[in-house]
Amino acid sequence: MTTTILTNKPLAGKTAFVTGGARGIGAAIVKRLAADGASVAFTYVSAQSKADELVQEIQSSGGQAVAICANSADFDALKAAIQQTIHSFDGIDILVNNAGISSMKPYDQFALEEFDQLIDVNLKAVFVAIQATAPQMKSGGRIINIGSISAEFNPFPGNSLYVLTKAAVAGLTRALARDLAPQGVTVNNIQPGMIDTDMNPENGAYAAGAEMIPLGRYGKAFEIANMVAYISSEEASYITGASLNVDGGASI
Ligand SMILES: NC(=O)c1ccc[n+]([C@@H]2O[C@H](COP(=O)([O-])OP(=O)(O)OC[C@H]3O[C@@H](n4cnc5c(N)ncnc54)[C@H](OP(=O)(O)O)[C@@H]3O)[C@@H](O)[C@H]2O)c1
Repeated sequence: MTTTILTNKPLAGKTAFVTGGARGIGAAIVKRLAADGASVAFTYVSAQSKADELVQEIQSSGGQAVAICANSADFDALKAAIQQTIHSFDGIDILVNNAGISSMKPYDQFALEEFDQLIDVNLKAVFVAIQATAPQMKSGGRIINIGSISAEFNPFPGNSLYVLTKAAVAGLTRALARDLAPQGVTVNNIQPGMIDTDMNPENGAYAAGAEMIPLGRYGKAFEIANMVAYISSEEASYITGASLNVDGGASI
């Protein structure tokens, strides 16, 4: 029988790469993985000062973090950031595809350029990052996509393209979990509900939606990071291909 020994640094010796890690859910993920002992490289595109502050915060508490400017929609830049991380840290063990954008409007008002933008950041970049990272992953590697419960449950009109991308991420997760299982790499999709960030502030346009949440409140970014930490850990060794809702019960 194999027993897992729990330590307060369960990810010591691991390297994580997180897209969109300077703020919101991504920043909570970066902090948590670093606190659990991982060396963390993360990308940002606009939030340079927040990225620098986060690196400082992690380094001053004894952790290791590096911020890399890379637009996920610039696939060469994304691949270069991954190669830089693999080279600097001797590989990547945990890939978190977090960067995402949302746009809500009536379906007949979307320009096809916006369609392409949402697909590029929310979906194509996920595939590009997995293609660039997975081949070098050792057994025990983790690919974690940040999808959305809107892939399964969408109570708001005007969400056609965002839902399309997040439903595709769930499908991609299932298919790639099968492709990567022989390599010992798991692929999972964490689906947040309504989480208080710049994208969806708890006092913003969708605040009334909190009434539909059984737990009666928006979630906090750290509550998504908790699930990422669990899936990253050895404890989650038998979970792959799953879409895991962290939504206060909103989708039940
Ligand atoms: N908040 C929610 O209620 C909710 C619910 C379900 C799913 N999600 C998903 O959770 C993830 C994080 O969302 P959030 O709420 O934290 O959003 P957020 O506060 O708007 O932050 C978005 C993050 O994505 C990064 N990003 C956006 N476009 C990028 C690009 N082209 N290249 C690289 N990075 C890019 C941003 O980087 P910069 O800071 O550098 O601009 C930022 O770090 C997204 O995938 C989102 O779809 C959120």
